[in-house]
Amino acid sequence: MDRGAHGHRVSGQKVLITGVDGYSGWPLALHLLARGHSVVGIDNFVTRKRVREVGSWSATPIPSFPRRQAAVREVLGRELGFHRGDLADYDFVRRVLAEERPDAIVHLAEQRSAPYSMIDVRHAVDTQVGNLTGTLHLLYAMKETCPDAHLVKMGTMGEYGTPNVDIAEGFFEVEYRGRKDTMPFPRQAGSWYHWSKVFDSGDVMFAARIWKLRATDVMQGVIYGVRTPEITDDRLLTRFDFDETWGTSLNRFIAQAVLGLPITPYGKGGQRRGFIALEDSMQSLRIAVEHPPAPGEYRVLNQFDAAYTVNELAERAAEVAREFDLRPTIEHPPNPRTEAEEHYYQPVHDKLLALGYRRSRELSDVIREIYRDLLRFRRRLDARRHVVAAAVQWANADSRPALEARAPPRTPPPSDVAGAGPTERSTA
Ligand SMILES: NC(=O)c1ccc[n+]([C@@H]2O[C@H](COP(=O)([O-])OP(=O)(O)OC[C@H]3O[C@@H](n4cnc5c(N)ncnc54)[C@H](O)[C@@H]3O)[C@@H](O)[C@H]2O)c1
Repeated sequence: MDRGAHGHRVSGQKVLITGVDGYSGWPLALHLLARGHSVVGIDNFVTRKRVREVGSWSATPIPSFPRRQAAVREVLGRELGFHRGDLADYDFVRRVLAEERPDAIVHLAEQRSAPYSMIDVRHAVDTQVGNLTGTLHLLYAMKETCPDAHLVKMGTMGEYGTPNVDIAEGFFEVEYRGRKDTMPFPRQAGSWYHWSKVFDSGDVMFAARIWKLRATDVMQGVIYGVRTPEITDDRLLTRFDFDETWGTSLNRFIAQAVLGLPITPYGKGGQRRGFIALEDSMQSLRIAVEHPPAPGEYRVLNQFDAAYTVNELAERAAEVAREFDLRPTIEHPPNPRTEAEEHYYQPVHDKLLALGYRRSRELSDVIREIYRDLLRFRRRLDARRHVVAAAVQWANADSRPALEARAPPRTPPPSDVAGAGPTERSTA
C-alpha cells in the first residue's frame, strides 16, 4: 500500500461518490475502479427526473442503475457499491458514512444547471436549499463518523465570474490601506446555481477550519466529451445532455449540427470560459483523491485545461462537422443570460500541473468523438429537437410559460434505446 505525504493511502482507497449516476460521477467510478480503488456511490436519480421535467433526455441511452452495475461487473470484473437515497436526509447520509467509512468522498450530487436555477422562484430555492443542505449534511456526517476522510467537493470556475484581473487559484495576497493579508479571491457568480456553489465554498472552508477536516474545493471548468478509456461498451456510456437547460454550449452546438439546425452562440459570443475534457477531468479528480491535503487544510484547485470563447467553440464545432458531411451555419440569437459578452479572462491553474496533471485529449479530437456518438443516436436527438433553443431568460422572474410553450416531445422507436431499460422512465 502506498502512503502519501500525510500518511494517507494513495492507492487502494475506498472512495464514496455522491452523484454516481450523473454525467461525471459515472465515469469517475469507472476510472477509480480501473485504478484499483474501491468505489461506492450514492444517488437519488433526480437529474434523470429534472431533465424529463424540461421535456428532454440524454442523447446517449442510459440504462437503469442495476443494469449499469451489472455491466461494470461484467466488463471491469469489479463491484460498484451503491446506496439509493437523498442527501437531504441526514439520517441516510450519516448511516452510509458510518457504514462505509470512506477514505475520500467526492461530492458531485448537486443541481448543476444554471438555466434550471433561473426558471422561477421555486427552481432558485430548490437549487440553493438542496445544494447547501447536501454539503452541510456531508460535512456534519464526516465530523461525526469519519473525520480523517478527505472531501473533494465540486465547485465551479463560474464562482469567480469574469473580473478584469487575473483569477487566483482560490487565495491571493491583498494589500489594503497599508496592510497585507492572504484572502479568498472574490466570487462574483452569474446565476442562482453558481451562487449556491459560492456559499458551499464558504461552508467547506469553515468546516475544514473548525473541525480540522481535509478538504479540496474543485473550481471545475466546463467539462466536454462523452467517453473515457474505461467506456468500452455502450452499457457503460455516460449521459450527454443537449437541451438548453442541461446541455453545455458545446453540447448544444454539436447537437444543432447533427440536427441540421444553425449553431447558436448567444449574443456576441465573446464569453470566455475554462474547459476540460471529460477524461482529463476524471484524471484531475483522481489526482486530487490520491494527494489529500493535511487535516484542517482547505485546498482550492482551478480545474480546467484551456479557455475558449463561445465563438471559438461554435467555429470548431462547425469545422469538425464538415468531416461528417454536415454544413451548419452560425447564427447569433439575443443572449438569454445577463453576462459580459466581451471581457478579460485569465485564471491561474498551476496546482494540478504541480501534482502531475497532463492533458491527454485535444478539443477537436473530442468533438469528433462526440459527433460519432451523436450520429449513432440521431433519432433520440431528433425526437427532442424542440428543446435545444433557449427558453429560460435571466431577466425574467418566471420562464415557465416560455418552457411550456415548446412543442411536446415525440418518442423515438424503442429499438433506439440500446441496452437500456424497457421504458422511458427507467432511462435518461
Ligand atoms: N458538468 C460540468 O461541466 C460541470 C462543470 C462545473 C461543475 N460541475 C459540478 O460537478 C458536479 C457533477 O456534475 P454533473 O455534470 O456530473 O451533474 P449531474 O446532474 O449529471 O450529476 C449529479 C448526480 O447527483 C445526483 N443528485 C443530485 N442531487 C442529489 C441529492 N440531493 N441526493 C442524491 N443524489 C443527488 C443526480 O441524480 C445526478 O445523478 C456538480 O456539482 C456540478 O455542479 C459540473
